[in-house]
Amino acid sequence: MQVLLLLGSYLIGSIPCGYLVGRKYRVDIRRYGSGNIGATNAFRVLGPRVGLLVLLCDAAKGFFPVLIINHFFGPAWAVMAGLATMAGHNWSLFLGFRGGRGVATGAGVVLALMPGVVAVALVIWLAVVLITGYVSLASIFAALFVPLIAFFFKVPPLYYLFAIPAPLIVVYRHLPNIRRLQKGTEPRIRFR
Ligand code: G3P
Repeated sequence: MQVLLLLGSYLIGSIPCGYLVGRKYRVDIRRYGSGNIGATNAFRVLGPRVGLLVLLCDAAKGFFPVLIINHFFGPAWAVMAGLATMAGHNWSLFLGFRGGRGVATGAGVVLALMPGVVAVALVIWLAVVLITGYVSLASIFAALFVPLIAFFFKVPPLYYLFAIPAPLIVVYRHLPNIRRLQKGTEPRIRFR
């Protein structure tokens, strides 16, 4: 039963919100901007409302499966479901095992398991975006701070099975952004 739940979490994570919403606008967002299917690129290509919609959809894919599985099956399965839903987002079954960077979906998982941690990470994310204009840098920073913030919040040790690998996955998925940041070609976010 639990294994099916993990498979279900992977499938939910695989739903490519950014790609599907983009298609409503007859745009394949993989062909524009960074080519990413996440909220940042949806914002970049289709504007703030679409970006927000994709953000909520991607976060919900992490939040709800983990919240429900935690309630009925306990934290160990919830943590594994969190990793499964993030894997689904990053390596989507519906996009030939390609996908996003896992930031919003990962944040949804953290919100379900340790809401205080996501609040502090969000402050870090916002600060880096406002100071540098680089969403990717903000995502990397915020993700890498998650284990440390979790430590200060004294979260159950089991949660580190998500709080440590998930940021590493986020960094790995940002390798193209890191290369662009090094070359000085990473676009800054524009709010106008
Ligand atoms: O969450 C993804 C963000 O950190 C970077 O997105 O589209 O600039 O690669 P993007």
